[in-house]
Amino acid sequence: MTAHPTILVHSPGPGEAARYAELIVAKTRGAKVSISNTAEDAERLAGDAEILVGWQFPPAMFARATRLRWIHKVSAGVEDIAFNPVIRPDVMLTRTDGAMIAPRMIEYVLGAIFAIVQRFPQAWRQQRERRWDSFPVGVAKGSTVGVAGLGDIGGAIAGALQHNGMRVVGWRRTRAKLSGVDRVYAGREELEAFVAVCDFVIIVLPATAETQNLFSPAVFAAMKPSAWLINVGRGAVVDEAALATAVREKTLAGAVLDVFAEEPLPADSPLWDFESVLITPHVSGPIVPEDVIGCFLENLQSYLQGEPLHRQVDRGRGY
Ligand SMILES: NC(=O)c1ccc[n+]([C@@H]2O[C@H](COP(=O)([O-])OP(=O)(O)OC[C@H]3O[C@@H](n4cnc5c(N)ncnc54)[C@H](OP(=O)(O)O)[C@@H]3O)[C@@H](O)[C@H]2O)c1
Repeated sequence: MTAHPTILVHSPGPGEAARYAELIVAKTRGAKVSISNTAEDAERLAGDAEILVGWQFPPAMFARATRLRWIHKVSAGVEDIAFNPVIRPDVMLTRTDGAMIAPRMIEYVLGAIFAIVQRFPQAWRQQRERRWDSFPVGVAKGSTVGVAGLGDIGGAIAGALQHNGMRVVGWRRTRAKLSGVDRVYAGREELEAFVAVCDFVIIVLPATAETQNLFSPAVFAAMKPSAWLINVGRGAVVDEAALATAVREKTLAGAVLDVFAEEPLPADSPLWDFESVLITPHVSGPIVPEDVIGCFLENLQSYLQGEPLHRQVDRGRGY
């Protein structure tokens, strides 16, 4: 580690890399910061960088990043760096604390549940036809909502659901309890039992080898036909063909999907066609520099003082 390490900020959004750099320089005396927002610049500047911070890193930059000691992702998903064999094992990987992104994702999940229960899509349909037909609406309070993935973000979502009167159950890898969660189910063998009790299932899981296509035909078969799936974690967790079949055959009421196995969602995906599927283009957890930079700055101080970094990615687990 050098006293004034060279920090490369990469973020392709317009003006984002410059904004991160401003926030870093404002808080770090003597910081040497360069920025890139294109693959060409990232590859050109990678060779000098000791620290890389940002997201949507062009894969080709890592072969040139020979001096790299630490990568910090400003987002919470880390499958692109955790499983990248080109990144040396001694390079430390950290990520944003999901709690910094969670407030916006809570609004997405609550908004989805309330819109479904209050039948807003039905109201919009009728409005387009200038039709006044009363219809019964439901109530979210008292329903059972399952949160698959009780990490930083899933845990925060669980708290908000409980605060709004819903009964919350959770599913995770370990059996660790969480306040506000009535029951924690754990491991692949309890996944069907978990989904079977839920009126809504919220997926807040990372993409790892173990979570790939976890929501399979067997899991959809275990869900209540009246249940809804809301996915704000990763698309790879859901077998999308099985989901389409479940919606088509009405063994599942519908889905609200923010993430997909392939993004953008291909034009020929059957998921586009269902009235009871709402598709959003990966917008539920926007990464706002001012929201997330604090996590990097705190770690930068630790790095400069030779102390352990927080929010390290476990490459074995993949999250
Ligand atoms: N849509 C968006 O815009 C958006 C924005 C931000 C994040 N995300 C996604 O949300 C994910 C979660 O973020 P986070 O900050 O909450 O992550 P986190 O704190 O690392 O939590 C991950 C959770 O998933 C559970 N999990 C992992 N592998 C599992 C497995 N094989 N079986 C059962 N449970 C498993 C973990 O269980 P244990 O606690 O038992 O280990 C943990 O509860 C991210 O990885 C990212 O992909 C999406």
